[in-house]
Amino acid sequence: TRIAIFISGRGSNMMALVEAAKAPDFPAECVVVVSNDPAAAGLEWATSQGIEALAVDHRPFGKDREAHERAIDTELRARGVEFICLAGYMRILTPWLVTQWEGRMINIHPSLLPKYKGLHTHERAIDAGDAEAGCSIHWVSAGVDEGALIAQARVPILEGDTPDTLAARVLTEEHRLYPAAVRDILTKM
Ligand code: GRF
Repeated sequence: TRIAIFISGRGSNMMALVEAAKAPDFPAECVVVVSNDPAAAGLEWATSQGIEALAVDHRPFGKDREAHERAIDTELRARGVEFICLAGYMRILTPWLVTQWEGRMINIHPSLLPKYKGLHTHERAIDAGDAEAGCSIHWVSAGVDEGALIAQARVPILEGDTPDTLAARVLTEEHRLYPAAVRDILTKM
């Protein structure tokens, strides 16, 4: 399966997916890494791996989110992309793109959904006094972080945790869970 990975920044989950895809039996090939931010650090890393890094800056499109997405979508179709993995892509998608890729687009979110949709998930979990946190892989649907769940991983919240220490613990699990979930889904597709 020809996949595209969408990022907006550091791209550590993208890196985990690309590394996993090096296994000869992995059911996906990453053909392009897309970022809305031309300065995203992950783009350079992708290039260093021989993967096409494509920046489609959202800023020239102003408020027209759909036009930005149509530009990206055209690039994906030109490359024969069949499946999208959102990995720290920080733009809210329009219903147009979601519909185009329904059943063929997944996201990773750093909370145990349905808890803590949106931002600052680790801070919110600590403030709530939760005993555990984690990450979720889900299908992308019209509502932000609301699509059907695919997989979750849990970590404990420890005494003295800050959002940063908790984020690091969760991120380790994200890097394990995302490739495993992609392998699972694409093997069944
Ligand atoms: C991850 O925690 C991901 O779950 C969230 O944003 C972060 C992106 O990190 N959506 P990275 O760019 O993959 O390193």
